[in-house]
Amino acid sequence: MQTIRTIAELRRLLDGAHAAGERVGLVPTMGALHEGHLSLLEAAREQCDVVVMSLFVNPAQFAAGEDLDSYPCDEAADAELARGAGVDLLFAPLVEEMYPAGFATSVIVGGVSETLEGAERGAGHFEGVATVVTKLLNIVAPDVAFFGQKDAQQAVVIKRLVADLDIPVAIAVCPTVREADGLARSSRNAYLSADERAHAVGLSRALEQAATLIASGERDSSATATAARRELAAYAIEPEYLDIVDPETLEAVAQIDRSVLVAVAAKVGRVRLIDNVVASPTRTNGR
Ligand code: PAJ
Repeated sequence: MQTIRTIAELRRLLDGAHAAGERVGLVPTMGALHEGHLSLLEAAREQCDVVVMSLFVNPAQFAAGEDLDSYPCDEAADAELARGAGVDLLFAPLVEEMYPAGFATSVIVGGVSETLEGAERGAGHFEGVATVVTKLLNIVAPDVAFFGQKDAQQAVVIKRLVADLDIPVAIAVCPTVREADGLARSSRNAYLSADERAHAVGLSRALEQAATLIASGERDSSATATAARRELAAYAIEPEYLDIVDPETLEAVAQIDRSVLVAVAAKVGRVRLIDNVVASPTRTNGR
């Protein structure tokens, strides 16, 4: 595995692979790698000839007052994990390389960016994500880029921008990797105290509750959301949002007659966590 700091060098190293028609995979990350990231690397390793992982804590996607300065950061540890996962090229640029003086362009994805996380964290969050991901896709020109269902809205935003800007890449969305008790793996879980960790499982429990209700025939989205909120309350969690939306358009769904995305965000102590589940009304019992 090689660690690359500059766009020019990464492009030069990839020239041969592109010319030879090799399948190039990109896994964008902000580091602090955990099992969730590793599952994306594993999928990339299986499906691609050359695996590029980017490690860049993108300042543009953090609002003032968010955790940019304290975002966990240990490049040596991440490089070891990346090497073990079979990454060929680790792209770890400095902020100045990605945003040199005079940088003035940003990518704004309308519609799907505006709800859920976009509404809570402000429009700048997905603008920062869309801009850096567009740059990474232009730099690497991968055949396929891998993202996690954990950040369901991010994956929807990226699919939208790739379609709208005619970027020739396939977007693969990999399932959410969870701890044994259901808590979705996240770099931010490291901030949880033991007591907060015990409460944090409430997010996945509430989503499970919603999915179970939907699978057993509940069609009313507000009744489902109320039951899920009750479950959150049992873990002393007050959500920023708990919404039932269309998995592609992210528009609110009132009557659940197809698959829906149940998405939740909540602060547990000072740690902001998000999670989601795709729930299907298809009855699997009584067959
Ligand atoms: P980061 O939070 O480091 O996540 C990198 C990728 O790992 C994202 O696609 C995310 O959805 C995925 N991921 C995180 N936790 C996961 C889990 N438990 N299971 C499966 N996949 C998981 O998301 C970002 O970085 C940034 O916004 C980025 C796309 C790199 C742009 O800066």
